[in-house]
Amino acid sequence: MQSWDVIIIGAGAAGLMCAIEAGKRGRKVLVLDHATKLCEKIRISGGGRCNFTNIHTTAADFLSNNRHFAKSALARYTPRDFLDLVEKHSIKWHEKTLGQLFCDTSAQEIINLLLEECRSASVTIKHPVTVKNVRPLPKQASGEKFSLESSDGTLCCHSLVIATGGLSIPKIGATDFGHRIAKQFGVPLTPLRPALVPLTLDAADKEFCKTLSGVSQNCITSVKKQKFQENLLFTHRGLSGPAILQISSYWEPGKSITLNLLPDHNIEADLTAAENSKKTLTNVLAPFLSKRFAQEWVERYAQNRTPADLGSKKLRKIAEDIHNWVITPAGDEGYAKAEVTLGGVDTKDLSSATMESKTQPGLFFIGEVMDVTGHLGGFNFQWAWACGHAAGQAV
Ligand code: FDA
Repeated sequence: MQSWDVIIIGAGAAGLMCAIEAGKRGRKVLVLDHATKLCEKIRISGGGRCNFTNIHTTAADFLSNNRHFAKSALARYTPRDFLDLVEKHSIKWHEKTLGQLFCDTSAQEIINLLLEECRSASVTIKHPVTVKNVRPLPKQASGEKFSLESSDGTLCCHSLVIATGGLSIPKIGATDFGHRIAKQFGVPLTPLRPALVPLTLDAADKEFCKTLSGVSQNCITSVKKQKFQENLLFTHRGLSGPAILQISSYWEPGKSITLNLLPDHNIEADLTAAENSKKTLTNVLAPFLSKRFAQEWVERYAQNRTPADLGSKKLRKIAEDIHNWVITPAGDEGYAKAEVTLGGVDTKDLSSATMESKTQPGLFFIGEVMDVTGHLGGFNFQWAWACGHAAGQAV
Protein backbone atom coordinates (compact mmCIF):
# COMPACT_ATOMS: atom_id res chain seq x y z
CA MET A 1 0.00 0.00 0.00
CA GLN A 2 1.44 3.40 -1.05
CA SER A 3 1.31 5.95 1.74
CA TRP A 4 1.08 9.71 1.21
CA ASP A 5 0.81 12.70 3.54
CA VAL A 6 -1.82 14.22 1.30
CA ILE A 7 -3.98 12.82 -1.49
CA ILE A 8 -5.95 15.34 -3.51
CA ILE A 9 -8.70 14.03 -5.80
CA GLY A 10 -9.24 16.47 -8.68
CA ALA A 11 -6.43 18.23 -10.53
CA GLY A 12 -8.39 21.39 -11.32
CA ALA A 13 -7.84 24.96 -10.16
CA ALA A 14 -8.44 24.36 -6.44
CA GLY A 15 -6.76 20.94 -6.27
CA LEU A 16 -3.54 22.09 -7.94
CA MET A 17 -3.31 25.25 -5.82
CA CYS A 18 -3.70 23.13 -2.68
CA ALA A 19 -1.05 20.70 -3.97
CA ILE A 20 1.43 23.52 -4.65
CA GLU A 21 1.04 25.01 -1.16
CA ALA A 22 1.22 21.63 0.60
CA GLY A 23 4.19 20.57 -1.53
CA LYS A 24 6.04 23.81 -0.70
CA ARG A 25 5.58 22.91 2.98
CA GLY A 26 7.41 19.64 2.38
CA ARG A 27 4.32 17.42 2.46
CA LYS A 28 4.40 14.31 0.25
CA VAL A 29 1.51 15.09 -2.09
CA LEU A 30 -0.30 12.94 -4.67
CA VAL A 31 -2.94 14.42 -6.98
CA LEU A 32 -5.30 12.03 -8.78
CA ASP A 33 -7.61 12.88 -11.66
CA HIS A 34 -9.76 10.65 -13.84
CA ALA A 35 -9.30 12.87 -16.90
CA THR A 36 -6.89 12.06 -19.69
CA LYS A 37 -6.37 15.76 -20.37
CA LEU A 38 -5.87 17.89 -17.25
CA CYS A 39 -7.47 21.25 -16.44
CA GLU A 40 -10.05 21.24 -19.21
CA LYS A 41 -12.21 23.78 -17.37
CA ILE A 42 -9.33 26.20 -17.16
CA ARG A 43 -8.59 25.63 -20.84
CA ILE A 44 -12.13 26.59 -21.95
CA SER A 45 -12.57 29.36 -19.39
CA GLY A 46 -12.94 33.00 -20.31
CA GLY A 47 -13.45 32.12 -23.99
CA GLY A 48 -10.02 30.41 -23.99
CA ARG A 49 -8.23 33.29 -22.25
CA CYS A 50 -9.11 32.42 -18.63
CA ASN A 51 -10.57 35.21 -16.53
CA PHE A 52 -8.24 34.11 -13.74
CA THR A 53 -9.22 36.62 -11.04
CA ASN A 54 -11.14 39.77 -10.28
CA ILE A 55 -9.29 42.59 -8.55
CA HIS A 56 -12.47 43.74 -6.77
CA THR A 57 -13.16 40.37 -5.10
CA THR A 58 -14.95 40.50 -1.74
CA ALA A 59 -17.10 37.94 0.09
CA ALA A 60 -20.17 39.78 -1.26
CA ASP A 61 -19.37 38.34 -4.71
CA PHE A 62 -20.27 34.82 -3.54
CA LEU A 63 -23.49 32.96 -2.83
CA SER A 64 -23.45 30.56 0.09
CA ASN A 65 -25.71 29.59 2.95
CA ASN A 66 -23.07 31.26 5.12
CA ARG A 67 -22.16 34.56 3.46
CA HIS A 68 -19.25 35.10 5.87
CA PHE A 69 -17.57 31.76 5.21
CA ALA A 70 -15.36 32.91 2.31
CA LYS A 71 -13.95 35.97 4.11
CA SER A 72 -11.04 34.34 5.91
CA ALA A 73 -9.57 32.46 2.92
CA LEU A 74 -10.14 35.41 0.56
CA ALA A 75 -8.31 37.72 2.96
CA ARG A 76 -5.33 35.37 3.22
CA TYR A 77 -4.95 34.84 -0.55
CA THR A 78 -5.89 37.90 -2.55
CA PRO A 79 -6.12 38.61 -6.31
CA ARG A 80 -2.75 40.39 -5.93
CA ASP A 81 -1.21 37.14 -4.66
CA PHE A 82 -2.36 35.25 -7.76
CA LEU A 83 -1.27 38.14 -9.98
CA ASP A 84 2.23 37.89 -8.45
CA LEU A 85 2.29 34.26 -9.55
CA VAL A 86 1.07 35.21 -13.05
CA GLU A 87 3.81 37.83 -13.30
CA LYS A 88 6.46 35.44 -11.92
CA HIS A 89 5.65 33.23 -14.95
CA SER A 90 5.82 36.23 -17.33
CA ILE A 91 2.21 35.75 -18.42
CA LYS A 92 0.87 38.85 -20.14
CA TRP A 93 -2.57 39.89 -18.90
CA HIS A 94 -5.12 42.67 -19.25
CA GLU A 95 -8.17 43.97 -17.41
CA LYS A 96 -11.17 43.52 -19.68
CA THR A 97 -13.90 45.22 -17.67
CA LEU A 98 -15.15 45.49 -14.08
CA GLY A 99 -11.84 44.27 -12.60
CA GLN A 100 -11.81 41.05 -14.65
CA LEU A 101 -8.25 39.94 -15.46
CA PHE A 102 -7.61 37.75 -18.52
CA CYS A 103 -4.52 36.25 -20.17
CA ASP A 104 -3.52 38.17 -23.30
CA THR A 105 -2.76 34.94 -25.16
CA SER A 106 -4.23 31.72 -23.82
CA ALA A 107 -5.66 29.93 -20.79
CA GLN A 108 -2.99 27.28 -21.43
CA GLU A 109 -0.52 29.66 -19.77
CA ILE A 110 -2.41 29.35 -16.45
CA ILE A 111 -2.37 25.55 -16.80
CA ASN A 112 1.39 25.64 -17.47
CA LEU A 113 1.87 27.90 -14.43
CA LEU A 114 0.05 25.45 -12.14
CA LEU A 115 1.86 22.39 -13.51
CA GLU A 116 5.27 24.09 -13.29
CA GLU A 117 4.59 25.17 -9.70
CA CYS A 118 3.53 21.59 -8.89
CA ARG A 119 6.79 20.26 -10.38
CA SER A 120 8.92 22.65 -8.36
CA ALA A 121 6.99 21.74 -5.17
CA SER A 122 7.67 18.01 -5.90
CA VAL A 123 3.96 17.19 -6.26
CA THR A 124 3.12 13.87 -7.95
CA ILE A 125 0.19 13.97 -10.37
CA LYS A 126 -1.30 10.74 -11.71
CA HIS A 127 -4.00 10.57 -14.39
CA PRO A 128 -6.16 9.08 -15.69
CA VAL A 129 -6.79 7.29 -12.39
CA THR A 130 -10.19 6.15 -11.21
CA VAL A 131 -10.91 6.14 -7.48
CA LYS A 132 -13.24 3.23 -6.82
CA ASN A 133 -13.83 3.82 -3.13
CA VAL A 134 -12.59 5.67 -0.07
CA ARG A 135 -12.59 4.13 3.41
CA PRO A 136 -11.79 5.59 6.80
CA LEU A 137 -8.98 3.65 8.48
CA PRO A 138 -9.14 2.59 12.11
CA LYS A 139 -6.80 4.69 14.27
CA GLN A 140 -3.21 3.69 13.60
CA ALA A 141 0.21 4.51 14.96
CA SER A 142 1.45 5.81 11.60
CA GLY A 143 -1.47 8.29 11.48
CA GLU A 144 -3.01 7.47 8.11
CA LYS A 145 -6.74 8.17 8.18
CA PHE A 146 -8.02 7.05 4.76
CA SER A 147 -7.45 4.26 2.27
CA LEU A 148 -8.42 4.50 -1.39
CA GLU A 149 -9.00 1.72 -3.89
CA SER A 150 -7.91 3.11 -7.25
CA SER A 151 -7.00 1.95 -10.74
CA ASP A 152 -3.43 2.70 -9.58
CA GLY A 153 -3.68 0.31 -6.63
CA THR A 154 -4.44 0.80 -2.95
CA LEU A 155 -3.33 4.13 -1.51
CA CYS A 156 -3.53 5.64 1.94
CA CYS A 157 -3.07 9.13 3.34
CA HIS A 158 -3.18 11.34 6.41
CA SER A 159 -5.18 14.12 4.72
CA LEU A 160 -7.69 13.58 1.93
CA VAL A 161 -8.72 16.60 -0.12
CA ILE A 162 -11.80 16.43 -2.33
CA ALA A 163 -11.40 18.91 -5.20
CA THR A 164 -13.55 17.29 -7.87
CA GLY A 165 -15.48 20.46 -8.74
CA GLY A 166 -19.14 20.93 -9.61
CA LEU A 167 -21.52 19.26 -12.04
CA SER A 168 -21.31 21.67 -14.96
CA ILE A 169 -20.10 20.46 -18.36
CA PRO A 170 -20.19 16.69 -17.74
CA LYS A 171 -18.75 16.07 -21.20
CA ILE A 172 -15.35 17.33 -20.03
CA GLY A 173 -15.29 15.22 -16.88
CA ALA A 174 -17.55 16.77 -14.23
CA THR A 175 -18.92 14.18 -11.79
CA ASP A 176 -20.82 14.05 -8.51
CA PHE A 177 -17.89 12.22 -6.88
CA GLY A 178 -17.34 14.91 -4.24
CA HIS A 179 -21.01 15.02 -3.31
CA ARG A 180 -21.06 11.21 -2.97
CA ILE A 181 -18.01 11.27 -0.69
CA ALA A 182 -19.69 13.94 1.43
CA LYS A 183 -22.80 11.77 1.78
CA GLN A 184 -20.69 8.69 2.59
CA PHE A 185 -19.00 10.54 5.47
CA GLY A 186 -22.20 12.16 6.72
CA VAL A 187 -21.13 15.65 5.64
CA PRO A 188 -24.29 17.63 4.74
CA LEU A 189 -24.96 19.10 1.29
CA THR A 190 -27.04 22.13 0.36
CA PRO A 191 -29.39 21.78 -2.65
CA LEU A 192 -27.62 21.75 -6.02
CA ARG A 193 -28.64 23.49 -9.23
CA PRO A 194 -27.03 24.97 -12.35
CA ALA A 195 -25.91 28.61 -12.03
CA LEU A 196 -24.36 31.20 -14.34
CA VAL A 197 -26.59 29.56 -16.91
CA PRO A 198 -28.69 30.79 -19.89
CA LEU A 199 -32.44 30.89 -19.21
CA THR A 200 -35.12 29.36 -21.43
CA LEU A 201 -38.58 30.81 -22.09
CA ASP A 202 -42.09 29.58 -22.79
CA ALA A 203 -43.20 29.21 -26.42
CA ALA A 204 -44.46 32.80 -26.92
CA ASP A 205 -41.46 34.57 -25.36
CA LYS A 206 -39.08 32.12 -27.05
CA GLU A 207 -40.52 33.05 -30.46
CA PHE A 208 -39.89 36.73 -29.65
CA CYS A 209 -36.28 36.02 -28.62
CA LYS A 210 -35.69 33.85 -31.66
CA THR A 211 -36.46 36.75 -33.99
CA LEU A 212 -33.88 38.79 -32.04
CA SER A 213 -31.26 36.05 -31.85
CA GLY A 214 -27.80 37.64 -31.78
CA VAL A 215 -29.02 41.07 -30.60
CA SER A 216 -27.42 42.32 -27.41
CA GLN A 217 -28.58 45.10 -25.11
CA ASN A 218 -27.07 46.70 -22.04
CA CYS A 219 -29.57 46.30 -19.21
CA ILE A 220 -30.09 45.81 -15.49
CA THR A 221 -31.41 42.40 -14.52
CA SER A 222 -32.85 42.00 -11.06
CA VAL A 223 -34.34 39.48 -8.67
CA LYS A 224 -35.54 41.02 -5.42
CA LYS A 225 -32.72 43.35 -4.29
CA GLN A 226 -29.98 41.70 -6.36
CA LYS A 227 -29.13 43.66 -9.53
CA PHE A 228 -26.55 43.35 -12.30
CA GLN A 229 -25.88 45.87 -15.07
CA GLU A 230 -24.31 44.05 -18.00
CA ASN A 231 -25.22 42.88 -21.51
CA LEU A 232 -28.27 40.78 -22.29
CA LEU A 233 -28.06 38.51 -25.34
CA PHE A 234 -31.08 37.11 -27.18
CA THR A 235 -30.58 33.56 -28.43
CA HIS A 236 -32.78 31.16 -30.36
CA ARG A 237 -33.43 29.29 -27.11
CA GLY A 238 -34.05 32.25 -24.81
CA LEU A 239 -31.90 34.74 -22.90
CA SER A 240 -28.18 34.71 -22.26
CA GLY A 241 -25.27 37.13 -21.95
CA PRO A 242 -23.53 38.21 -18.72
CA ALA A 243 -26.59 40.01 -17.29
CA ILE A 244 -28.67 36.82 -17.52
CA LEU A 245 -25.91 34.44 -16.36
CA GLN A 246 -25.39 36.63 -13.28
CA ILE A 247 -29.06 36.82 -12.33
CA SER A 248 -29.61 33.10 -13.05
CA SER A 249 -27.74 32.34 -9.81
CA TYR A 250 -30.44 34.23 -7.88
CA TRP A 251 -33.46 33.16 -9.96
CA GLU A 252 -35.69 30.41 -8.57
CA PRO A 253 -37.82 28.22 -10.86
CA GLY A 254 -41.33 29.61 -11.25
CA LYS A 255 -40.26 33.13 -10.23
CA SER A 256 -39.82 36.19 -12.46
CA ILE A 257 -36.87 38.37 -13.30
CA THR A 258 -37.09 42.08 -14.10
CA LEU A 259 -35.10 43.75 -16.84
CA ASN A 260 -34.51 47.46 -17.20
CA LEU A 261 -33.69 47.65 -20.89
CA LEU A 262 -32.57 51.28 -20.74
CA PRO A 263 -30.81 51.71 -17.39
CA ASP A 264 -28.98 54.92 -18.27
CA HIS A 265 -31.79 56.75 -19.98
CA ASN A 266 -35.34 57.89 -19.15
CA ILE A 267 -37.26 56.88 -22.28
CA GLU A 268 -40.49 58.52 -21.15
CA ALA A 269 -38.91 61.93 -21.75
CA ASP A 270 -38.22 60.97 -25.40
CA LEU A 271 -41.65 59.45 -25.90
CA THR A 272 -43.37 62.61 -24.68
CA ALA A 273 -40.97 65.16 -26.27
CA ALA A 274 -42.76 67.54 -28.65
CA GLU A 275 -40.16 67.06 -31.42
CA ASN A 276 -40.86 63.29 -31.46
CA SER A 277 -44.64 63.48 -31.46
CA LYS A 278 -45.00 62.83 -35.21
CA LYS A 279 -42.31 60.10 -35.52
CA THR A 280 -43.25 56.43 -35.41
CA LEU A 281 -42.69 54.72 -32.08
CA THR A 282 -40.00 52.50 -33.63
CA ASN A 283 -38.07 55.55 -34.77
CA VAL A 284 -38.23 57.15 -31.33
CA LEU A 285 -36.95 53.98 -29.65
CA ALA A 286 -34.41 52.89 -32.29
CA PRO A 287 -31.53 55.19 -31.23
CA PHE A 288 -31.59 53.60 -27.77
CA LEU A 289 -32.65 50.00 -28.35
CA SER A 290 -31.17 49.14 -31.76
CA LYS A 291 -33.49 49.22 -34.77
CA ARG A 292 -34.20 45.47 -34.81
CA PHE A 293 -35.04 45.33 -31.14
CA ALA A 294 -37.15 48.49 -31.33
CA GLN A 295 -39.13 47.07 -34.27
CA GLU A 296 -39.81 43.72 -32.60
CA TRP A 297 -40.58 45.33 -29.26
CA VAL A 298 -43.12 47.72 -30.78
CA GLU A 299 -44.70 44.93 -32.83
CA ARG A 300 -45.09 42.74 -29.76
CA TYR A 301 -45.84 45.16 -26.94
CA ALA A 302 -47.18 48.37 -28.48
CA GLN A 303 -48.70 49.78 -31.63
CA ASN A 304 -46.37 51.44 -34.12
CA ARG A 305 -48.19 54.73 -34.14
CA THR A 306 -46.89 58.19 -33.40
CA PRO A 307 -46.57 59.29 -29.76
CA ALA A 308 -49.14 61.98 -30.56
CA ASP A 309 -51.68 59.25 -31.50
CA LEU A 310 -51.00 57.13 -28.43
CA GLY A 311 -51.51 59.68 -25.68
CA SER A 312 -49.59 60.21 -22.44
CA LYS A 313 -51.09 57.30 -20.46
CA LYS A 314 -50.10 54.72 -23.09
CA LEU A 315 -46.68 56.33 -23.51
CA ARG A 316 -46.06 56.11 -19.77
CA LYS A 317 -47.00 52.41 -19.85
CA ILE A 318 -44.61 51.78 -22.78
CA ALA A 319 -41.80 53.52 -20.87
CA GLU A 320 -42.63 51.50 -17.77
CA ASP A 321 -42.53 48.24 -19.75
CA ILE A 322 -39.11 49.12 -21.17
CA HIS A 323 -37.69 50.03 -17.76
CA ASN A 324 -39.44 47.13 -15.99
CA TRP A 325 -39.79 44.21 -18.39
CA VAL A 326 -40.96 41.31 -16.21
CA ILE A 327 -40.29 37.88 -17.63
CA THR A 328 -40.88 34.43 -16.14
CA PRO A 329 -38.27 31.99 -17.47
CA ALA A 330 -39.49 28.47 -18.22
CA GLY A 331 -36.22 26.98 -16.98
CA ASP A 332 -32.49 27.01 -17.57
CA GLU A 333 -30.18 25.26 -20.02
CA GLY A 334 -28.90 22.88 -17.34
CA TYR A 335 -25.46 21.62 -16.39
CA ALA A 336 -24.49 21.16 -20.04
CA LYS A 337 -24.39 24.96 -20.42
CA ALA A 338 -23.95 26.20 -16.83
CA GLU A 339 -20.58 27.66 -15.81
CA VAL A 340 -20.96 26.54 -12.21
CA THR A 341 -23.02 24.57 -9.69
CA LEU A 342 -24.89 26.42 -6.99
CA GLY A 343 -24.82 24.66 -3.61
CA GLY A 344 -22.62 21.78 -2.52
CA VAL A 345 -20.84 20.68 0.62
CA ASP A 346 -22.42 22.68 3.44
CA THR A 347 -19.94 25.19 4.84
CA LYS A 348 -21.50 24.63 8.30
CA ASP A 349 -19.48 21.41 8.44
CA LEU A 350 -16.20 23.04 7.29
CA SER A 351 -13.59 25.20 8.99
CA SER A 352 -13.41 28.55 7.17
CA ALA A 353 -9.70 28.72 8.04
CA THR A 354 -8.68 25.31 6.63
CA MET A 355 -11.66 23.80 4.70
CA GLU A 356 -11.37 20.69 6.88
CA SER A 357 -14.56 18.89 7.90
CA LYS A 358 -15.45 19.59 11.51
CA THR A 359 -16.95 16.12 11.84
CA GLN A 360 -14.40 14.09 9.81
CA PRO A 361 -10.86 15.11 10.79
CA GLY A 362 -8.42 14.82 7.89
CA LEU A 363 -11.13 15.20 5.22
CA PHE A 364 -11.06 18.50 3.30
CA PHE A 365 -13.37 19.90 0.59
CA ILE A 366 -12.21 22.72 -1.69
CA GLY A 367 -13.37 24.58 -4.80
CA GLU A 368 -16.67 24.32 -6.57
CA VAL A 369 -17.71 21.14 -4.77
CA MET A 370 -18.47 23.37 -1.76
CA ASP A 371 -21.45 25.63 -1.24
CA VAL A 372 -19.55 28.76 -2.28
CA THR A 373 -20.46 30.06 -5.73
CA GLY A 374 -19.02 33.20 -7.27
CA HIS A 375 -20.54 35.76 -9.56
CA LEU A 376 -19.37 35.83 -13.17
CA GLY A 377 -16.08 37.65 -13.71
CA GLY A 378 -13.11 35.74 -12.32
CA PHE A 379 -14.55 35.22 -8.83
CA ASN A 380 -14.85 31.43 -9.09
CA PHE A 381 -11.18 31.03 -9.90
CA GLN A 382 -10.22 33.47 -7.13
CA TRP A 383 -12.21 31.27 -4.74
CA ALA A 384 -10.47 28.13 -6.07
CA TRP A 385 -7.04 29.74 -5.50
CA ALA A 386 -7.96 31.11 -2.05
CA CYS A 387 -9.55 27.98 -0.58
CA GLY A 388 -6.90 25.75 -2.21
CA HIS A 389 -4.23 27.93 -0.59
CA ALA A 390 -6.00 27.77 2.81
CA ALA A 391 -6.27 23.97 2.72
CA GLY A 392 -2.69 23.70 1.41
CA GLN A 393 -1.46 25.36 4.63
CA ALA A 394 -3.34 22.87 6.80
CA VAL A 395 -3.15 19.42 5.19
P1 FDA B 1 -12.51 21.95 -11.60
O1 FDA B 1 -13.76 21.59 -12.32
O2 FDA B 1 -11.63 22.98 -12.16
O3 FDA B 1 -11.65 20.64 -11.35
C1 FDA B 1 -12.20 19.44 -10.90
C2 FDA B 1 -11.29 18.30 -11.33
O4 FDA B 1 -11.77 17.10 -10.74
C3 FDA B 1 -11.28 18.07 -12.84
O5 FDA B 1 -9.96 18.00 -13.28
C4 FDA B 1 -12.01 16.73 -13.02
O6 FDA B 1 -11.51 15.98 -14.09
C5 FDA B 1 -11.72 16.05 -11.69
N1 FDA B 1 -12.70 15.06 -11.32
C6 FDA B 1 -14.06 15.16 -11.34
N2 FDA B 1 -14.61 14.00 -10.95
C7 FDA B 1 -13.59 13.15 -10.66
C8 FDA B 1 -13.53 11.80 -10.22
N3 FDA B 1 -14.66 11.10 -10.00
N4 FDA B 1 -12.32 11.25 -10.04
C9 FDA B 1 -11.18 11.94 -10.28
N5 FDA B 1 -11.18 13.22 -10.72
C10 FDA B 1 -12.37 13.82 -10.90
N6 FDA B 1 -14.46 30.88 -13.55
C11 FDA B 1 -13.73 32.03 -13.50
O7 FDA B 1 -13.42 32.49 -12.41
N7 FDA B 1 -13.35 32.64 -14.66
C12 FDA B 1 -13.67 32.17 -15.90
O8 FDA B 1 -13.25 32.71 -16.93
C13 FDA B 1 -14.49 31.00 -15.95
N8 FDA B 1 -14.91 30.53 -17.16
C14 FDA B 1 -15.64 29.36 -17.20
C15 FDA B 1 -16.08 28.89 -18.44
C16 FDA B 1 -16.81 27.72 -18.51
C17 FDA B 1 -17.33 27.24 -19.84
C18 FDA B 1 -17.07 26.98 -17.32
C19 FDA B 1 -17.82 25.68 -17.37
C20 FDA B 1 -16.65 27.46 -16.09
C21 FDA B 1 -15.94 28.66 -16.02
N9 FDA B 1 -15.53 29.17 -14.79
C22 FDA B 1 -14.82 30.35 -14.76
C23 FDA B 1 -15.77 28.44 -13.53
C24 FDA B 1 -14.49 27.71 -13.12
O9 FDA B 1 -13.99 26.96 -14.22
C25 FDA B 1 -14.73 26.76 -11.95
O10 FDA B 1 -15.43 27.43 -10.93
C26 FDA B 1 -13.41 26.22 -11.40
O11 FDA B 1 -12.75 25.49 -12.43
C27 FDA B 1 -13.64 25.33 -10.19
O12 FDA B 1 -12.43 24.79 -9.81
P2 FDA B 1 -12.36 23.37 -9.10
O13 FDA B 1 -10.92 23.08 -8.93
O14 FDA B 1 -13.24 23.34 -7.93
O15 FDA B 1 -13.01 22.35 -10.14
